[in-house]
Amino acid sequence: MSVKLPEVKDLFEAKSVAVIGASASPGKIGFKMVENMVVDGYKGKLYPVNPKGGEVLGYPIYPSITDIPGEVDIAVVTVPAKHTYDSVVECAKKGVKFLPIITSGFAETGNVEEERRILGVAKEAGMRILGPNIFGYFSAKASLNATFGPRNIRHGKLAIVTQSGALGIAMVGRSTLEHIGLSALVSVGNKCDLDEADLLEYFVDQDETKVVLLYIEGVQKGERFIDVLKKTTMKKPVVVIKSGRSTRGAMAAASHTGSLAGSDTVFDAIMNQCGVLRAETLKEAFNWCRFLAEAPEPKGENVVIITNGGGVGVMATDAAEKYSVNLYDNQAKLKEYFAPVTPDFGSTKNPVDITGQAGAKEYSQAIAAALASPDIHGVMALYCETALFTVDSLSKMICETYTQYKLGVKPIVYSIIGGEAIEHCTTSLRPNQTPVWEDVYDAVSCMGALYKWNRFKNTKVEPTADIQMNWKRINEVIQSARDDGRTFLLPHESTVLMNEAGIAMPKNGIAKTSDEALKLSREIGLPVVMKIVSKDIIHKSDAGGVLVGIDSEEGVVKAYETIMANARKYKADAVIDGIEVNEMIKAKTEVIVGARRDATFGPTVMFGLGGIYVEILKDVVFRSWPINKDEARKMVLDIRAAKLLTGARGEKPRDIDTLVDTILRLGSLIKNVPAITDMELNPVVVYEEGKGAKALDVRILITEK
Ligand code: ACO
Repeated sequence: MSVKLPEVKDLFEAKSVAVIGASASPGKIGFKMVENMVVDGYKGKLYPVNPKGGEVLGYPIYPSITDIPGEVDIAVVTVPAKHTYDSVVECAKKGVKFLPIITSGFAETGNVEEERRILGVAKEAGMRILGPNIFGYFSAKASLNATFGPRNIRHGKLAIVTQSGALGIAMVGRSTLEHIGLSALVSVGNKCDLDEADLLEYFVDQDETKVVLLYIEGVQKGERFIDVLKKTTMKKPVVVIKSGRSTRGAMAAASHTGSLAGSDTVFDAIMNQCGVLRAETLKEAFNWCRFLAEAPEPKGENVVIITNGGGVGVMATDAAEKYSVNLYDNQAKLKEYFAPVTPDFGSTKNPVDITGQAGAKEYSQAIAAALASPDIHGVMALYCETALFTVDSLSKMICETYTQYKLGVKPIVYSIIGGEAIEHCTTSLRPNQTPVWEDVYDAVSCMGALYKWNRFKNTKVEPTADIQMNWKRINEVIQSARDDGRTFLLPHESTVLMNEAGIAMPKNGIAKTSDEALKLSREIGLPVVMKIVSKDIIHKSDAGGVLVGIDSEEGVVKAYETIMANARKYKADAVIDGIEVNEMIKAKTEVIVGARRDATFGPTVMFGLGGIYVEILKDVVFRSWPINKDEARKMVLDIRAAKLLTGARGEKPRDIDTLVDTILRLGSLIKNVPAITDMELNPVVVYEEGKGAKALDVRILITEK
């Protein structure tokens, strides 16, 4: 019988907390834990536990958790690894709900078995483990600082989940410095049980949390993570910092698709697909979080730059392009709105340049004009230090306009540049969460992050139905390859799969005699390409096993004999299944389409520029499966060389619909046939619109059993 697990809500709204290993020695983690809870004002019941008894900070210490008279929601474990199991067994007897295990010395040091043993006890008793190997967690809702990190954590709207303990502690310090309040802070450590997805499921509906920041080193249950991320970002922004961009693991993969799918490339693509904002640096992450926690959602895409300096306006324009912030371009309207507040020698074009002579009054007027204009949806206000402002007048202007924008539900960011006076101004504005930065790029990137999330949230995603195929026939072909001891399909087997999947290949057939080759060439039409079919000859060209451009019937007969002779010479005992006769395709635009089962994220699909340079150009994009038609089209148009497909230099556009269909078919295959690990169609020659595409070479890898 399965045990009912407690709701994650109880972790953050705990009514009673025990500290196992609570110590009266001030230098110990077991002391700090109690001290932090007391000093940060935990309102629930606090029960220190230690066989020695006594008291700590005025609280009586219970010799065992089972001696505690009332219920215990949470038991924070701060005893050494060798005592942890016994403590967890005691907690199970008590009916504890959550076990944040601070203790190190489990899976992270190779002590996997002990971690499993502890998890086993917890699972059986319906307890959930946070960690082990964590610095604890903080919940603003319960005023619970169950960490041995900093105290006086500022309460607010940001929830942080971190895999790194030390960095997590540093982030608390940073958030305090930046005046960013936290709704929660969770160290997940080894994630033997609770992970990011479990926590996101709680934060998505928790009113106090407006933004979630995740610091991730590795993901374990990728498919569930994707699912929860997508649901969360439909409601709240999620910012991710992920370290470990190494592609070493992926280099070992067997196919192009595999080696192109460097773990970080796939992670990055999937985060984008889930509407997650991936920050490069901590600074960027905190900038975004601070802004997103307060910013109203824009009602449209039209953003205006208001500046007193041309140069900084140009910088902001560049930054807007980099961060995909759309600058409003209706010159007539811009003139109508801003001419009354711009001197004749200024500019009403976007950037709106109210010139160096603008003081606080002129700025306020211009910013108010943008607020009053219905088709302007956001503002980036830039200010270069001039003698026309004092710190006080600048701060006042920013405070007032910011309040007006909040009331008017329009996002605004400020970038103010200059010396000491400006620094005073930024420092004085920060505690009120005013979105003010000194660097133009910092300000614009925040607006970009807001728009990126907002666009994702407002995009309706229609569900995809898998394309149905004859799964039985496909699995039979795979099984016969396995029975043959192979983990790859031979070309004629791949052809069967492609036929079943409805993906076009050059017309072809296998001939076992020169007469059969001749017959096939008549059916296919000259010219043809002929290739040896043998599991013992993988590198066909090296063996003289491929001849192209055969354009006469005599040539077909001769080619058959030549290839057979070459093959025998190359490997006398090779088992030869025959010679493949193929329609000769004139290559024009070549793309690659792939699908693979990612070790972390499950089925993924790939599209890119194909041919022999695919690994050098690396012009490929990935998505986690499933995707719908629109997303598949986006993939095709997302590659750098998309212009080659949409019609470059007066050429006709290529058949993008067929490419979209091919991606969807490969996705359905990889999803529904677990035996397939990797599929790669390269090159796929794509013709003009309406004329289809053909996969010239197909590589399919399968599992052993
Ligand atoms: N029940 C209750 N209390 C017990 C039990 C038990 N079964 N067994 C021992 N204790 C008591 C001890 O008597 C001691 O109390 P005392 O100070 O009164 O003597 C207390 O528990 C702690 O035990 P110690 O043996 O003194 O262990 P210590 O405090 O030195 O270390 C700790 C325990 C902190 C859990 C340590 O083993 C550990 O794992 N440290 C690393 C923690 C860590 O870094 N986590 C990751 C954080 S993230 C980051 O990187 C910042």
